[in-house]
Amino acid sequence: MSWREFPKVELHLHLEGAAPPSFIRGLAKEKHIDLSGIFTREGDGYAYDDFDHFLQVYEAACTTLQSPEDFRRLTLAVLEESASHGVVYTEAFLSPDFCGGGDVSAWRDYLAAIEDAAAEAERSFGITLRGIVTAIRHLGPEQAKTAALCAAETAGPFVTGFGLAGAELVGRPGDYAWSFDMAREAGLSLTCHAGEWGGPDMVADTIRDLKVSRIGHGISAVRDPALCERLAEDGVVLEVCPGSNVFLGAAKSWATHPIAELREREVKVTISTDDPPYFHTTMTKEFEGLERAFRWGEEDFQELTEVALAAAFCDEETRGKVK
Ligand code: HPA
Ligand code: ZN
Repeated sequence: MSWREFPKVELHLHLEGAAPPSFIRGLAKEKHIDLSGIFTREGDGYAYDDFDHFLQVYEAACTTLQSPEDFRRLTLAVLEESASHGVVYTEAFLSPDFCGGGDVSAWRDYLAAIEDAAAEAERSFGITLRGIVTAIRHLGPEQAKTAALCAAETAGPFVTGFGLAGAELVGRPGDYAWSFDMAREAGLSLTCHAGEWGGPDMVADTIRDLKVSRIGHGISAVRDPALCERLAEDGVVLEVCPGSNVFLGAAKSWATHPIAELREREVKVTISTDDPPYFHTTMTKEFEGLERAFRWGEEDFQELTEVALAAAFCDEETRGKVK
């Protein structure tokens, strides 16, 4: 069976990380920016050696995104691609640091363009987008506060969450508590990357100190059965990105990916792509990989999609419409 048409819910997608290389190359040409080193020789992907280098290439690609109009075009292109893989609801990490550097007034302009594109994509492609304003961990706790402020100022029906991405091993979760407290007080739902590179202790500390309901990745939790039990009991949802993990080496292979054991331990898991062109993946490929690795079929994917929809950072009306 082809999984392409299967209606999907994606919870973990970095908007800039979903930019096709051809899109970034086009912007670079328009703006006379030299990005010759960041693409694969074939031109169909981004070239980097490891996770830290990935973050550098990612940031280089983002230098081409310089205006609300660039983000409007990006959002439309990304949502059209997602919808073509059966995604009916998606959440995207939006970074004020790439949209005016954290200035709230500039952020409002960028966000308006993104929202405008989301409305157009909903009409044209039948896909619904919600935004998770995201701080970048390796820029440090002080800069994270500016992202949290942007999040709090624009919290509403479209911006429904706050998160933290970037280099996971920089600092400890508690360093970012001020930002998460501010976002929570603004009514936002919370998620944080943890347990992709950090151990189970990073997942545990993130939940304790940032009080998030979801964890980005979280796969290292599999190494601590007591933690898995707690995650299952508390209903913490993992945004698992198997293709990303295998490509970057956070998991050895599809066949040994922790998602199956986490699920057996009754931890709530969901499936996402993270940064699809960077990891040569799509939601269709994620489903195909899991079918091949674990013989998962329609019932499994139905169940995981229901878990994702229940964990989505949206109101009941939106959830009802997507169902
Ligand atoms: N992981 C962590 N930070 C990121 C990623 C990612 O895959 N993409 C963009 N920022
Ligand atoms: Zn991510």
